Amino acid sequence: MIDEAAREKALKRAGYNIFGLNSDEVYIDLLTDSGTGAMSQDQWSGMMVGDESYAGARSFHRLSDTVQDIFGFKHFVPTHQGRAAENILCAVILKEGQYVPSNMHFDTTEGNIRARGGRPVNLVCKEAYQTSSDIPFKGNMDLEKLENFIQEVGPENIPLGMITITNNAGGGQPVSLENLRAVSKIYKSYKIPFFIDACRYAENAYFIKTREPGYENKSTLEIAREIFAQADGATMSAKKDAIVNIGGFLAVNDPVLFEKIKNECILREGFITYGGLAGRDLDAIAIGLREGLQEPYLAYRLGQTSYLVSGLKEIGIPVIEPAGGHAVYINAGELLPQIPQEEFPGQALSVEMYREGAIRTVELGSVAFGFPDPDTGEMIYPTLDLVRLALPRRTYTQSHLDYVIQVLGKIYENRENLSGYRIVKAPVLLRHFSAIFEPI
Ligand SMILES: Cc1ncc(COP(=O)(O)O)c(C=O)c1O
Repeated sequence: MIDEAAREKALKRAGYNIFGLNSDEVYIDLLTDSGTGAMSQDQWSGMMVGDESYAGARSFHRLSDTVQDIFGFKHFVPTHQGRAAENILCAVILKEGQYVPSNMHFDTTEGNIRARGGRPVNLVCKEAYQTSSDIPFKGNMDLEKLENFIQEVGPENIPLGMITITNNAGGGQPVSLENLRAVSKIYKSYKIPFFIDACRYAENAYFIKTREPGYENKSTLEIAREIFAQADGATMSAKKDAIVNIGGFLAVNDPVLFEKIKNECILREGFITYGGLAGRDLDAIAIGLREGLQEPYLAYRLGQTSYLVSGLKEIGIPVIEPAGGHAVYINAGELLPQIPQEEFPGQALSVEMYREGAIRTVELGSVAFGFPDPDTGEMIYPTLDLVRLALPRRTYTQSHLDYVIQVLGKIYENRENLSGYRIVKAPVLLRHFSAIFEPI
């Protein structure tokens, strides 16, 4: 762990954007759970038998069998990560000015929709914004809002509908099977293809098993199959619940759409049996997809986030409850009420966590989701200013989490003295990755 003066210097150099820090300047890295997990011995040994043939490799067929078994879609292409699957999907299905509803889109999904001139729309249930509650499925879609929205803009202007499981942008909260079924029914009734953003499908399946009546005796595999049986396709970042460092895929049932996907995949990612990955990566994904569904592993994983939530609550830090699957979300807007949204309370907290304890987190609030209204140009800010503490899979131990709680305890004591940031320079899309800030 580098000392305080070195951390301050690193912050200045990075423009107070923690994405600009180097990993050797960070002590506990909770920036993301994406691609940062520890692969198992089986995954590593699977990589040794990777088949690097350009077309039709055995590695592809091993992955194909696994995708077929868990997800059940008729066709799929591997992609180098989740956003590549989103890019291909948007390229083949979306036209300028069209809408894509979801419970909540993640930033890359939003970015890919906007990059094609589309309009992402978030219709999550209102309980998602009640930060402290024990409501079990706060990732659910608001069904009434969805139905009204479709009627308002017309189904002909909605080329696809989505749902994100778990809802990363809204606290890593799960979606129930009851809700997934109802969403599927609505989309079907308007002939709108239904795609699931499936990154954290295994965590969502375990939440269903432990929280939704009627599923306690079903395996996570059976639940996963039931989830995907509701949909026409899925985008997947394997860097999450397949516990690999790189990879993803796009799966669909519609053969006509798949023809277009194949062409786009070849153009942007690579031939359809490797999609921008090495054969060995495909093997690691195939093995990881199954490991990610193991119930003792999921009990440990969701146990970690709930341990961190309890510890933070005890010292007065406002967190989203119940704990999410992959991350703990601090309500920075509530912790730092003296900092208005346009001065980015989440950014202030994430910078302070690095300054105080060399902990790297990510702002998911007015920096990540603030966007100028396409009609008026006026800045629209999200309802909540959150800081996400994402836990890499199979990486940190309880004592690491105790350290995080200790650092946040110190910040809590000093919270009234913290102030905000202003943006000096930022791109229009996905600005939180590369914006440069200065303290106010
Ligand atoms: C819900 C969700 N969708 C899509 C993505 C994009 O995946 P990738 O980072 O592999 O491009 C992420 C990544 O964090 C995510 O959390």
